[in-house]
Amino acid sequence: MKAGLIGTGHYVPEKVVTNHDLEKIVDTSDEWIRTRTGIEERRIASDDMNTSDMAYEAARDALNEADLKAEELDMILVATVTSDMGFPSVACQLQERLGARQIPAMDISAACSGFIYGIVTAKQFIEAGVHQNILVIGVEKLSKITNWSDRNTAVLFGDGAGAAVVSKVTEGKGILSHELGSDGTGIPYLHQTDEDHIYMNGREVFKFAVRQMGESSLNVVHQAGLTKDDVNYLIPHQANIRIMEAAREKLEIPLEKMSKSVDRYGNTSAASIPIALSEDVKAGRIKEDDVVVLVGFGGGLTWGAVALRW
Ligand code: ACO
Repeated sequence: MKAGLIGTGHYVPEKVVTNHDLEKIVDTSDEWIRTRTGIEERRIASDDMNTSDMAYEAARDALNEADLKAEELDMILVATVTSDMGFPSVACQLQERLGARQIPAMDISAACSGFIYGIVTAKQFIEAGVHQNILVIGVEKLSKITNWSDRNTAVLFGDGAGAAVVSKVTEGKGILSHELGSDGTGIPYLHQTDEDHIYMNGREVFKFAVRQMGESSLNVVHQAGLTKDDVNYLIPHQANIRIMEAAREKLEIPLEKMSKSVDRYGNTSAASIPIALSEDVKAGRIKEDDVVVLVGFGGGLTWGAVALRW
């Protein structure tokens, strides 16, 4: 029995903040941001829209697409580093708000790799026969931990949520292989400060990301018994177009076969892969039987990848 994704959903806040808007608050330029990162604009949640509110919207969308009622869920996993409060978890907030039964619910902290950690965790419960339907969400309100006077980080991030329902799928489909990893020696390069802001050493993170995204993508393809020629679509974590390009080149995938929303949403951390996936599914860019690779990296440092047949 294989676990696969039977429904996807996403939500992004309405408010658009362009690079030109940021020029007014930090010493930067649209040209610098575009050429270094590929980002043109990002969405920022209003003060009254918290992480759990965005997660709820994405969850409803995924449940609709999966044609599943909240009462049919067996578990809720939420990947985030920006929960509404230290505890209880966003997952518990959703259990109540969605009207799910009194099922297990917990948050996962793996920064931008969190959604991949979530679907791989869900896969274990499904394939062991313990659970049938698991809701996995990647959500961030990074704007609340962004230091809006630090140009090194303020230009990179955005808010949003993406979700998927993981369930049993027909043999031959679903998650074919996965890789997860962590390296805590990278903590100095990317972490939340005592002031609750994001600190990042961009160059170090960049070097790590370029190497890891390529390696992990190839590893999951080979573990699935496939070659890079079999891959139909690549969804890299939407952090920086140059990092995404490195993964694409490693897999030798044509440009139109790589998901790209970093220009519109910036880096939404754990939400970036499921937002991209949901948009690609809804737009028909991912087709029945396509081999899709999802790959991400983030604070921890962490990384994760899956190869799946749609
Ligand atoms: N506008 C203008 N200049 C800037 C800006 C800005 N917004 N930000 C930095 N600079 C300047 C710096 O001050 C520095 O100037 P200096 O050389 O005089 O000191 C210079 O630009 C930096 O140049 P580089 O380090 O060469 O820039 P680089 O090409 O590495 O791009 C970037 C920087 C975009 C941050 C890149 O390193 C990167 O994308 N790194 C990975 C980031 C990432 O993906 N992080 C994931 C975090 S996700 C999470 O877990 C929450």
